[in-house]
Amino acid sequence: PYPVYRQMRDQESPYWLETPHDAKSGGCWMFTRYDEVKDLLRKAHDAPQDIKRLIPESQRTAFHYMLLYSDPPDHTRLRSLISTPFSRAGVNRLDAMITRQVDQLLDVIQEHDEVDFIAAFAEPLPVNVISELLGTPIEDATLLRDWTVTLGRGFDSTINDPVASQRGVEALQEMTRYFTELMARPNQPPGTIIESLKNDSAAQKCSPQEAMAQCMLLLLAGHETTLSLLGNAMYCLLTNPGELAKLRQQPELLDSMINEVLRFEAPFQRAVFRVAAEPITCRGHQIQVGERISPVVSAANRDPAQFAEPDRFDIERKPNRHLAFGLGIHRCLGEKLARSEARIAIGRLLQRFPHLQAVESKPRWKARSLFRTLQSLPVKPG
Ligand code: HEM
Repeated sequence: PYPVYRQMRDQESPYWLETPHDAKSGGCWMFTRYDEVKDLLRKAHDAPQDIKRLIPESQRTAFHYMLLYSDPPDHTRLRSLISTPFSRAGVNRLDAMITRQVDQLLDVIQEHDEVDFIAAFAEPLPVNVISELLGTPIEDATLLRDWTVTLGRGFDSTINDPVASQRGVEALQEMTRYFTELMARPNQPPGTIIESLKNDSAAQKCSPQEAMAQCMLLLLAGHETTLSLLGNAMYCLLTNPGELAKLRQQPELLDSMINEVLRFEAPFQRAVFRVAAEPITCRGHQIQVGERISPVVSAANRDPAQFAEPDRFDIERKPNRHLAFGLGIHRCLGEKLARSEARIAIGRLLQRFPHLQAVESKPRWKARSLFRTLQSLPVKPG
């Protein structure tokens, strides 16, 4: 995608992208320059409430109750209900659990001469971690993972595939039923997010629909993004052997390396659509209230006006103020968790496999516009 983003950034930002199959919107304004993207995210040009106003109560889906699609004061209230486990202290408490999950997956990798890093490691780890946090039965992890993938594809509005859209709608309904039933069970595992949200709903701090929708959001927001970060980190290291050798010599560069992966191959390529809440004038374009706007963080992350040699993967890059986790009120809630998972996972993997190698020089990416995720990444643990 990067040459296309470069062209858009150099020639025309904002760029009007037509999506003729999406009759409701017709298209959106894509912003690709660093300063513009930062500005849009900060201003939280949101007004998804408009969507809520237009849709009758009976036709609302779980999406309408998720904090990512809410404006204050609902957004503030919902975010405060689920923020504690994602604080620094909350995430530190998960280190032992994450380490255990990582080591179990590395044991499996060790048994093979050649293995797909995505299927064997990057895919199962994030969903296993979120399942433990939420309190969903561990045996349901595969089911939850499949739903998130189907949903992500179905709701990627730049993919014109009616079958995928239909499957996405079905997955949304099945997932909604699943979480509604799970929350209705009398006893929830103690200390889990489901238990806490159920108590909040009983105390009327949120509605039962809101409680259920935040569980779905955490699963959706945390799965494919973190899977992508893990895969992209391995990909960047294996295709930049000089940087990998440097990291092996200086393991203290691990956090800085993860930060550079987030910039260089942003897992969430563009933030969710916003709706202009006030008129925007930008380089001769007049954007009216209500028009859709899309801040493309992955394009901003390679803007030469902000990053020297933006197309170079440099694990020592400083400063590195990328926008991979967004900004403003919707800034990623799971940032500390994602960084911690990646630090533990990549750190232990490199320690355990000093001769790890890629099998193919050009791994395949999934055909998706929203997430930057590898289809597969065959490796030899060595
Ligand atoms: C929001 C990226 C992992 C939960 C966001 C946003 C971005 C993002 C860009 C803002 C979207 C927007 O403004 O339109 C990422 C990346 C991740 C990651 C790159 C991994 C590398 C996680 C994890 C969780 C999580 C592990 C939790 C389990 C959330 C939530 C929001 C969010 C709840 C909505 C926040 C709000 O609306 O206030 N994420 N995310 N994310 N993320 Fe993450």
